[in-house]
Amino acid sequence: MPKQPIDLQRKLEHLFLAEKFYQTTNPTFEELKLLPPALPETTIDQVQLTTTFCNQTLPTPLYINAMTGGCAQVTAINQKLARVAAALHLPLAVGSMSNYLKYAGISGVSESYEIVRQTNPHGFILANVSAHVSATDAQKCVDLIQAQALQIHVNAAQEMVMSEGNRGFVWQENIRKIVQQVSVPVVVKEVGCGMTQKDVWHLEQLGVQNIDLAGRGGTNFVQIENERNHQQDYSFLQNWGLTTLESLVNVVPKQHSATIWASGGIRSPLDAVKCLVLGASAVGLAAPVLHQLNHHSVEHTIQYFHTWLQQLRELVALLGCQSIQDLTQVSYRLSPHLAQYQTQN
Ligand code: FNR
Repeated sequence: MPKQPIDLQRKLEHLFLAEKFYQTTNPTFEELKLLPPALPETTIDQVQLTTTFCNQTLPTPLYINAMTGGCAQVTAINQKLARVAAALHLPLAVGSMSNYLKYAGISGVSESYEIVRQTNPHGFILANVSAHVSATDAQKCVDLIQAQALQIHVNAAQEMVMSEGNRGFVWQENIRKIVQQVSVPVVVKEVGCGMTQKDVWHLEQLGVQNIDLAGRGGTNFVQIENERNHQQDYSFLQNWGLTTLESLVNVVPKQHSATIWASGGIRSPLDAVKCLVLGASAVGLAAPVLHQLNHHSVEHTIQYFHTWLQQLRELVALLGCQSIQDLTQVSYRLSPHLAQYQTQN
């Protein structure tokens, strides 16, 4: 059998390695302690988890972040992800659509993305491109899956460690053009190294209205690409970037006009609540959904995240709140380490 191009093969390796390195907990979230009221004065029935997501009101603040697409072998997993998203009314981002732009002629490549829209015809779906594609190509990706929003991923450290990665990270003017020219809202996201307040200011100046900090602590693409790279060792970069909490504390969502989403290493409803308390308006999960689907049926995975959402609702009530917006009033304490991210830029 002819060997498939490395860009297609990489998609399979990412799925395999994300599972190989998967951790069920993320200790970096212990650096923030919530101060819950002993007298919450709420009942669970009063809790509404609704949030605004790219100008639409959605029933919960959870979304499934970008993972895969781009070769025939991943179509089945994208179909499963789309079934989970449809059943729970969660937005779903497809993985990078670079392979669609490069290899649309190869059998199964376009279909691996299209299956998501076919399986979830009315759901909120996000296309996903890298920061160097043209605005025209970005629009092509949106059109292929009739996406309601477009994610642009920024992943300098990942590209650096990937032996076949790009070595140029000049992206800002292109991001501005994409924002101006595509027909849907744009979200700029990292892939697990986080962002700083300066990044958010820059992105706001480029017209970006939605930013996903995607911090360290969960899926680690430096680790994944280092495992794939047989020429050079980049293990010294393993802890590159900011954790999701470090990013949130540094960025201070309420000081920005852009909507800030948090993802990267969210492994429990409590991790999610902590992000919402710090002002994130939505919280994304990638590998936890993949992990469930790798080990269980779609039905079991749906039930698992249904319970997760119920526990999120319970936590909101325990904190004396009735809405996601109320959570920003909850008191908390940061560890001395985390507190430094508030004061030092
Ligand atoms: C990803 N992620 C990702 N992000 C992106 O913007 N485009 C992509 O193609 C991919 N591909 C991809 C493959 C796999 C297998 C995983 C697990 C993840 C990154 C993802 O969207 C997210 O930012 C990080 O995974 C951090 O979240 P978790 O996994 O810690 O919840």
